[in-house]
Amino acid sequence: MTIPVLTIDGPSGAGKGTVSRQVAKQLGWHYLDSGSIYRSLAIALLQNNVNPAQVGDIVNTARNMDLAFDCTGELEVTLNGIDITPQLGTESTGNMASKIAALPEVRQVLLQKQKDFKKLPGLVADGRDMGTIVFPEANPKIFLTASAEERAVRRYKQLMEKGIDVNIRQITSEIEERDRRDKERAIAPLVPAEDAFFIDSSAMTINEVIAQVLSLVPQHRSA
Ligand code: C5P
Repeated sequence: MTIPVLTIDGPSGAGKGTVSRQVAKQLGWHYLDSGSIYRSLAIALLQNNVNPAQVGDIVNTARNMDLAFDCTGELEVTLNGIDITPQLGTESTGNMASKIAALPEVRQVLLQKQKDFKKLPGLVADGRDMGTIVFPEANPKIFLTASAEERAVRRYKQLMEKGIDVNIRQITSEIEERDRRDKERAIAPLVPAEDAFFIDSSAMTINEVIAQVLSLVPQHRSA
């Protein structure tokens, strides 16, 4: 039996996480937040004092990660029995994740871990290369984007709500730097799949984006 997959790729801060979680919930499908796998590896390297210049050690750490995801509410992640949810969303974890994500050997090891999320009744997968590399068979594939300024403002508000005092100019330059790294890397760069639907969320509410994504899902339309 074919397992349906919906992919949502795009740059950080475009709303992929919120939209994907809600869409998965409404469809009753599983959810893969692939960025959290790269983020978990970044945390594992810190926990194990791995030298980020030693690719072999990074790959071994990636192979031996025992990860458990709980997506029933806000995503909770356990790494080798330790709850790493609080560290997962920080800017430094995201930046470190984006550096190690540029290593082909790392992407290769993490590929199967991501494919294993594909289970009945279906999967919503969010990331950078979900529609191009990990699930090329997906239908539909969405490329969700927003202007760098809008993404920086959203991130700024999110961090301020959490009581983290940040500087908007610094956030904007970090977002631009991470976009550049993700787009320019040699392997699995952030590019839309040829058959992707584009959604620019800059001037849209989250509910409008969710409704548009759901309208593209054949199983939802026929329900
Ligand atoms: O989506 P998120 O911000 O959690 O991702 C953190 C980093 O992990 C990204 O900046 C990107 O470099 C990397 N990533 C990736 N491929 C994915 C998901 C995330 O390279 N499918």
